[in-house]
Amino acid sequence: MNAGPGRPLVTVRGVHRSFGTGPTAVHALRDVSFDVTAGTMVVLVGRSGSGKTTLLNVIGGLDRPDAGTVLVEGTDVTALDEDGLSRLRREKVAYVFQTFGLIPVLSAAENVGAPLRLARVPSAERERRVELLLELVGLADHAEQRPGELSGGQQQRVAIARALAASPRLLIADEPTGQLDAETGLSVMALLRGVVESEGVTALVSTHDPVMIALADRVIRINDGRLEEEPNGQLRGQPNGQLEGLPDGQLAEEPDGRIEGQADGREAS
Ligand SMILES: Nc1ncnc2c1ncn2[C@@H]1O[C@H](COP(=O)(O)OP(=O)(O)OP(=O)(O)O)[C@@H](O)[C@H]1O
Ligand SMILES: [Mg+2]
Repeated sequence: MNAGPGRPLVTVRGVHRSFGTGPTAVHALRDVSFDVTAGTMVVLVGRSGSGKTTLLNVIGGLDRPDAGTVLVEGTDVTALDEDGLSRLRREKVAYVFQTFGLIPVLSAAENVGAPLRLARVPSAERERRVELLLELVGLADHAEQRPGELSGGQQQRVAIARALAASPRLLIADEPTGQLDAETGLSVMALLRGVVESEGVTALVSTHDPVMIALADRVIRINDGRLEEEPNGQLRGQPNGQLEGLPDGQLAEEPDGRIEGQADGREAS
C-alpha cells in the first residue's frame, strides 16, 4: 500500500449534483465534502432518494458533479476524460452493484477473470488469481457454474471476487445486500469487511442494513443531499459485541457468534 494509515484515499470537496433545471430541479448532492481514510470501510446510509447512488457514482467516475472535486489517490476524477475514466475503473476503482451485474453466459471463473483479461494479464497468472479469489469468497467449488446456476448470495460473492480481481484501491458497493435475505446478506457483508483487512482495499458501501452499519469503521448519513456524520456504529470496542444502538429486534434471529467473530480482534484506526 502506498497510502499510509490515516491518509485519505478519497477526498470529496464541495460537490454539487442536480438533475433538471428550474423549480423542478432535484438537488441530489448539496455541497458534499468528506474524506475516506485508506484501508477503512465507510458506510453511507440515508433514505431512498437521499443521494447515495449519486454520490457513489460521482466518486467512481460514472457521473460528473456540477461543481466540486473528487480526488481518488490524488487523481482528480472530475477532470478525467473518457480514457482517463476507463483507466480509473480498470486500475483503481471497482464496483459491486445491488443487482450483481455478472455476465450470464460466462462461468463464475470467467466472470472473475474478465477484468484481468481486459488488463491483458497472461492466462496462467490469470487462472491463479481467479482460483485464489474464488477461494477467498468461498466459491472454489463453483468455478464452472454460470450466474443463473448460482444463488443470489453466491452471485454477489462472484461479483465481489471480480471487483477485487485487478487489485483496486477503492471498492464501491451500492446496496450490495439489497437483494439478499438477511442471513445471506450478513455473510456477504462479513466477506466485504474481511477483504478490507485481507486485501488492504478501502471500501465505500451504501446500505440500509444495520449489520453492515455495525461492521463499519465509520458511518456517514446523507439526508436530502447533505452529509451528516453518524455516531460510529461499529461493534468493535463494545462489550460482548452487543448490537447496542441498532433498531430494536432487527437482529433478533441472527446468530450472535458470527457477528462477534467478525468484530473480534480489530481496532478502529
Ligand atoms: N439520472 C437522474 N435523473 C433525474 N433525477 C435523478 C437521476 N438520478 C437520481 N436522480 C434523483 O436524485 C435524487 C437522489 O437519487 P439517488 O439515486 O442518489 O438516491 P439513493 O439515496 O441512492 O436512493 P435509493 O436508496 O432508493 O437507492 C433522487 O431524488 C432521484 O430521483
Ligand atoms: Mg441508490
